[in-house]
Amino acid sequence: MTTEGEVVVRLERLRKHYGETVALDDVSLEIRAGEAVAVMGPSGCGKSTLLNMIAGLDRPTSGSVTVHGEELSTLSETRLALFRRHRIGMVFQFFNLIDDLSALDNVALAAQLTGTSAAHARRRALDLLDELGIADRADLYPAVLSGGERQRVAVARALMNRPAVLLADEPTGALDSHTGEQVMDLLLDLHQLGQTLLLVTHDERLAQRCASRVIAIEDGRVTGERAMEQSA
Ligand SMILES: Nc1ncnc2c1ncn2[C@@H]1O[C@H](COP(=O)(O)OP(=O)(O)OP(=O)(O)O)[C@@H](O)[C@H]1O
Ligand SMILES: [Mg+2]
Repeated sequence: MTTEGEVVVRLERLRKHYGETVALDDVSLEIRAGEAVAVMGPSGCGKSTLLNMIAGLDRPTSGSVTVHGEELSTLSETRLALFRRHRIGMVFQFFNLIDDLSALDNVALAAQLTGTSAAHARRRALDLLDELGIADRADLYPAVLSGGERQRVAVARALMNRPAVLLADEPTGALDSHTGEQVMDLLLDLHQLGQTLLLVTHDERLAQRCASRVIAIEDGRVTGERAMEQSA
């Protein structure tokens, strides 16, 4: 658990190069517990790279990433995988659910990977699906769920291990506007419950609605920052 106001994510002079491409160029940033930060910027400016660095999915070229007190460069691949499972929740534009598992099993799997018993994992998964209003969909497979239902399953999966930070990359990008609004409401609820959130979006409305702070990125650099008035 994190205490309100404590730094959950700290990026210091972060750079990431892919060959000749400079995806992130000297990014420094802090995210505190309970904040909901939106990252906005044009396609290719480095937003997904930023999330991937925080999630420990990829290693920086230079600079440091500290999450929940752990400096990720000091972790072995095995420790990094454990860090990801225990501390990070991720939600993607296209849900990334496992087609062969029911909604319930998609969610429960996240906890089983951290060593939680199957019975306990399924119980917590069902509780989360219930909180997100889709308990009646628990036994269905992703193929028969609506886009909004799939994203709620993905959010439940991301919350399963009580992550220090929930990372969402264009979570409403594949949804129609009505369904997108429902997912926005869900993220806003999570923020109001104190979940630390970092979300990438092109959608100014999503940022307005859910974020306490917006960070603008261009060409791999932070070019601006503004605090948001909370709408709810
Ligand atoms: N694995 C990779 N290998 C090579 N280049 C990459 C890789 N990942 C990202 N890039 C490059 O790094 C830059 C930043 O990419 P990134 O995906 O972070 O942008 P983005 O802001 O998320 O864009 P979008 O809004 O389109 O999702 C781009 O020029 C991209 O082509
Ligand atoms: Mg992206």
